[in-house]
Amino acid sequence: MVDIVQRYNVPSRHAWLHGPRTGAPVEYDTRAGMWHVYGYHEAQQVVGDPATYSSDTMRVIPKHLLPSPDELSLEGFLTQIDPPEHGKLRKLVSSAFTRKVVADLEPRIAEVAHELLDAAADRGRFELVTDLAYPLPVIVIAELLGVPAGDRALFKKWADALFQRDAEFAIKETGRPDAELQAAIEPWKEMRDYLQAHVTERREAPRADLITRLVQAEVDGRRLPDAQVVNFAMLLLLAGHITTTMLLGNTVLCLDAFPDQQERVRADRSLIPAVIEESLRYLTPFAALARSTVREVELGGVTIPADQLVMVWLAWANRDPLQFADPHVFDLGRDPNPHLAFGRGIHFCLGAPLARLEGRVALDILLDRRKELRSDPDDPVEFIPTPSMTGVRRLPLL
Ligand code: HEM
Repeated sequence: MVDIVQRYNVPSRHAWLHGPRTGAPVEYDTRAGMWHVYGYHEAQQVVGDPATYSSDTMRVIPKHLLPSPDELSLEGFLTQIDPPEHGKLRKLVSSAFTRKVVADLEPRIAEVAHELLDAAADRGRFELVTDLAYPLPVIVIAELLGVPAGDRALFKKWADALFQRDAEFAIKETGRPDAELQAAIEPWKEMRDYLQAHVTERREAPRADLITRLVQAEVDGRRLPDAQVVNFAMLLLLAGHITTTMLLGNTVLCLDAFPDQQERVRADRSLIPAVIEESLRYLTPFAALARSTVREVELGGVTIPADQLVMVWLAWANRDPLQFADPHVFDLGRDPNPHLAFGRGIHFCLGAPLARLEGRVALDILLDRRKELRSDPDDPVEFIPTPSMTGVRRLPLL
């Protein structure tokens, strides 16, 4: 087994990368005041039962830890909504964000990837995240939405403020409001106002972009109010790049760590989809999801009371030996590979086709343009510190 932990100095908080787990599949965390689900089977049970495990997690977080609804409205934030409202909204946004809309992006994704790699070649050094993994998905999602890709320094500022947390999340705190949550309010508002301006403009002057399609989308005679379009656009802009950035970085890291697998895919490009899927399993970008129990429930041999916060550790589930043989081995031959990196059930990632497409196109081009994908031993890889995310924020290549 390749020891990626020592080789890349993986932070200890990313415990799932440090070897097998010995504890129970479901555990209560007394310090943080919430439940953790680690087993694959149990994770599937949670995400497959939205009637018991609600996506509306705000209802169980103490009010003093939350900003007021004026400051942070999650109206239309698909990941936080339960049935039946979720199904209606998902149908509406899916009618604008279709598989065809995504598939048509392939040539543009390739073009942007080449442009970025050309620019990096001119500079004479190559740091995968800054030069490709970050800008590629941001440019693609910005162009798709119809906001200027040139504003991406702004998007990065917002995304960093909203996602890059150092501390473990806990709901059992001292009386003091969570400082990191408070620090996220300003960027949240800025992002909301920025997108609101675009939505208002599209209502008056429609264009050929996704914001216009969302503004015009209609299912059963119903259209989306502004607040919902804004929040959905926000979700796309954030989800549309942070996670895919991690996917691209992680995939190259896996091929660096396992040169035999890199040889394999170089010899047979039809294995590219398998590289992407195994990368999603092995280094699961979105390591954990949150749910709240609406009633008392038995799970993995324990009883969880009603109104509890439950963290579903997709990253652990994806390394559960009861589901995956040799889970700590990166293996392109894994077939089937039913990883949970995109979630499961009614909230299954709406952007999965786009993320997969970007991953495949970028990897194919990288393999074409670089004889080997190898990290620079003199310039260390850095991991994103956020405990619930698995991804690199710096990956210098030779
Ligand atoms: C939902 C992961 C890329 C948009 C989810 C969920 C996961 C996930 C785990 C389920 C959340 C839950 O059940 O609570 C990922 C990963 C990605 C990725 C690992 C890249 C590797 C994208 C992209 C987009 C996107 C590129 C959009 C452009 C969404 C949306 C939802 C979602 C809108 C909410 C779906 C719903 O609640 O019905 N994603 N995502 N994601 N994702 Fe992604």
